[in-house]
Amino acid sequence: MDSEYNPIKIFSGNANKPLAEKVASYLGIPLGQAEVGRFPDGEIKLRISENVRGLNVYVIQPTNAPADNLFELLILLDALKRASAASITAIIPFFGYARQDRKVRSREPISAKLVANLVTVAGADRVVAIDLHAAQIQGFFDIPADNLTAMVQFAQYIKRKELEDLVVLSPDVGGVARASTFAQTIHASQALFVKKRLSPDAVEIQSLIGDVRGKNVIIADDAIHTGNTMLNACNRALTEGAKSVIACATHAVFAGDSLGLFARSNFSEVIVTDTMFVPGREYPSMFTVLSVSELIAKAIYSIHNHSSVSALFQL
Ligand code: R5P
Repeated sequence: MDSEYNPIKIFSGNANKPLAEKVASYLGIPLGQAEVGRFPDGEIKLRISENVRGLNVYVIQPTNAPADNLFELLILLDALKRASAASITAIIPFFGYARQDRKVRSREPISAKLVANLVTVAGADRVVAIDLHAAQIQGFFDIPADNLTAMVQFAQYIKRKELEDLVVLSPDVGGVARASTFAQTIHASQALFVKKRLSPDAVEIQSLIGDVRGKNVIIADDAIHTGNTMLNACNRALTEGAKSVIACATHAVFAGDSLGLFARSNFSEVIVTDTMFVPGREYPSMFTVLSVSELIAKAIYSIHNHSSVSALFQL
């Protein structure tokens, strides 16, 4: 999947190099050469090691914590812009700093808008993300922004299991559209929990809309941070009579030691993706990690060849 006269160039910082390498390998090209290191005091020191003048380039870098991941992305974009790349697409598999996307209380920031501004000012001409915390964040960018979804991949995986009596459950109101894509794709029914967030690490499931009794329930969410949402939703679904519960979440954050809580949970399987990378992390045996590399590679190929990316939203 390469064109001799219009080569695809992919660069990556250190946030998720394994994913960038998989994408490059899928496209049959080497990863672009860049030195993304540190000064002795810890500041980021960066140099693009090959010519990019006049080329359309793609940078793959999630912006989950620590903030160095975001900063590496910004500095990469700046370097590519100053090296005269013809166009720069920022592929942000996990768009971090997205949860503060509106002022819920006075004197709060809108961090998602700030990060969108930073990415644009740094030099991005286009942004591609996967399962944004809220789809409206696309509108925070005044450049083209595509919000891909891993829900189709989850659906493909679940379909192969040939389970019956499936219901896709969104653990909160904000995730209904996402769960709906999933449910429609596998022809399952839908349910919804009304969730109240009490604090960043505490949630309360208040009520169930829909029916999970006797069903194999798939809880679909954009992210697992502390795990409170998923774990509470699993227990409540079982209390409501669910036969089994599977978790599907795109971004596998697992703050603190929350991964261990899942190993001891009532989930029959937890399915996540590789949008973010945590060196040394080992997943318990009930986890399945699907790669978003093919999804990103196909998006790059479509953008590069000015064709539609809408096929990526279908099974
Ligand atoms: C919330 O709106 C999101 O969709 C996720 O449900 C949330 O980020 C999960 O966080 P936690 O794992 O800390 O409950």
